[in-house]
Amino acid sequence: MVGSNLVLFLLNCWRVNLIKNFCIITLQKLDMEDEQVMDALEAILTRRSVRKYTEKEIDDTCIQQLIEAAVSAPSAGNQQPWHFIIIDNRRILDKITEFHPHAKMLKEAKKAILVCGDINLETYKGYWMLDCSAATQNILLAARALGLGACWLGVYPREERIIKLRELLEIPENVIPFSLISLGYPAEKQEKIRREYKSRIHYNKW
Ligand SMILES: Cc1cc2nc3c(=O)[nH]c(=O)nc-3n(C[C@H](O)[C@H](O)[C@H](O)COP(=O)(O)O)c2cc1C
Repeated sequence: MVGSNLVLFLLNCWRVNLIKNFCIITLQKLDMEDEQVMDALEAILTRRSVRKYTEKEIDDTCIQQLIEAAVSAPSAGNQQPWHFIIIDNRRILDKITEFHPHAKMLKEAKKAILVCGDINLETYKGYWMLDCSAATQNILLAARALGLGACWLGVYPREERIIKLRELLEIPENVIPFSLISLGYPAEKQEKIRREYKSRIHYNKW
């Protein structure tokens, strides 16, 4: 009798524990989802172009996270027509400043990512540049979330920049350099800005 009561008692303890653990895990998960929403908004609202960088190196894990963020972007029909060239060679970074008129920050940048569109991967014609834009923006936001400074340097549709980058980085004809993102730890603090948008909102009709 004492033995079976003990078994029942232990069984109840086990059930209570099971329910307790389930509740804890669910609550933790809810908390995490809340945090993720906050983090994403914070990154979006505080992102600015950063063009001055410290000497601190960027580790490979960070770069991997940036690329994961990039490939998490939406794309037309899920075609994912992108490629990413990670540039950390000083000679190449400096060389780009010789033909790109607004890329002086590459002299200080530790790394850069060239986002390219592959027209052979395009199943929905004319959408590759939109997909690459979404990937580029995801990289900028992830960089902000990771405490990195980043700036979008325009490449597409400027023919000369496309040709020069294709030559320098040996990019095949079917792949089009789209945007270059300079990266480094920030050596300048960009203030959060509030942009006027009331005149740009229209309800139901223009
Ligand atoms: C398509 C595109 C091309 C850009 N090209 C350059 C560039 O070549 N050099 C540069 O310093 N900034 C470039 N920028 C960054 C813009 O100058 C910057 O986003 C804008 O001034 C707003 O500032 P913010 O990013 O701090 O909000 C570019 C941004 C976009 C979206």
